[in-house]
Order: sequence, then C-alpha cells, then structure tokens
Amino acid sequence: MLVSRSVVGLLLLAALSVMPGCSTDGGEGDLPLDRPSQIAALTANLAAGAASYETNCLVCHAKDGKGDSGPNLVSGTAAALPTKAMASVILNGKGSMGAYDSLTNQEVADIIGHVMTTLAGN
Ligand code: HEC
Repeated sequence: MLVSRSVVGLLLLAALSVMPGCSTDGGEGDLPLDRPSQIAALTANLAAGAASYETNCLVCHAKDGKGDSGPNLVSGTAAALPTKAMASVILNGKGSMGAYDSLTNQEVADIIGHVMTTLAGN
C-alpha cells in the first residue's frame, strides 16, 4: 500500500513538472506549489511594487490603475480577482496583454500589493 502510494505520488510529480505554467521553484523535498500559490503566500513590498508597476503595467493600465488600453484594475471585475487569479493573469498574460513570467514571484507579489493596497485605496 505504501509502495503504490508513493509510485502514484512520483507519477503525479512527474506529470506536474512537465506541465507548462507549473514551475516549481519551491524548496526541494516539499510538495511543489504552483507559482500563483507561492506568490499569494508572500508579503508585498509596496514601494518596490510601485516601481515595478510603473515599469511594466502603467502603459496600459494607467498610473492610477483605472485603465487605458487595459481594463481598470481598481474597480470592477479585475479588482475583485483574488490574489492567485491576478498572479496567474500576470504570469500567463490574457488577450492582448503579454505574459510577465520573467518577473520573480516577489516582484509579482509586490505589483499585486501595489494594485490591491496602494491604488485600490486611492
Ligand atoms: C500591452 C498592454 C498591457 C500591459 C503592459 C499590461 N496589461 Fe494587464 N491587461 C491588458 C489588457 C488588454 C487586458 C484585458 C485582457 C482580456 O480580458 O482579454 C489586461 C488584463 C489584466 C488583468 C485581468 C483583468 C480581468 O478582469 O481579468 C489584470 C489583473 C492585469 N491586466 C494586470 C496587469 C499587470 C499587473 C500588469 C503589469 C505586470 C499588466 N497588466 C500589464 C493590457 C496590458
């Protein structure tokens, strides 16, 4: 019983590790979490988030987050997205928005903090 369970576990891990978008930069030995879950567990640095937002997102979502060619991020559907869902849009892109998968987990967490805390509070 124990043996077959660990075989199933290994097969699952092998399957997960070849799935695109399921990168595993979690610690070795731990069950890997997907990047949006890892991001949701981080504490945002709001000052760093403001800078990264202005570099990466401002051009389409505006400095105040209220949208330009991209949608409003501080009210309506986008603002209601849970952290993990927002992280997944940032990492994978959506429609004409490109994927920001070269950002680190911390950078994505910082940007989400800037949108959800600083911009949403204005
Ligand atoms: C080239 C313009 C562009 C840039 C740059 C851009 N976005 Fe977007 N973004 C869009 C567009 C357009 C959509 C709508 C996509 C759709 O729904 O088809 C969108 C959608 C989103 C959504 C999801 C809204 C929803 O309701 O599902 C979030 C969250 C978001 N962007 C955040 C960001 C963040 C954070 C950044 C910076 C890392 C960023 N975007 C950079 C154009 C952009």
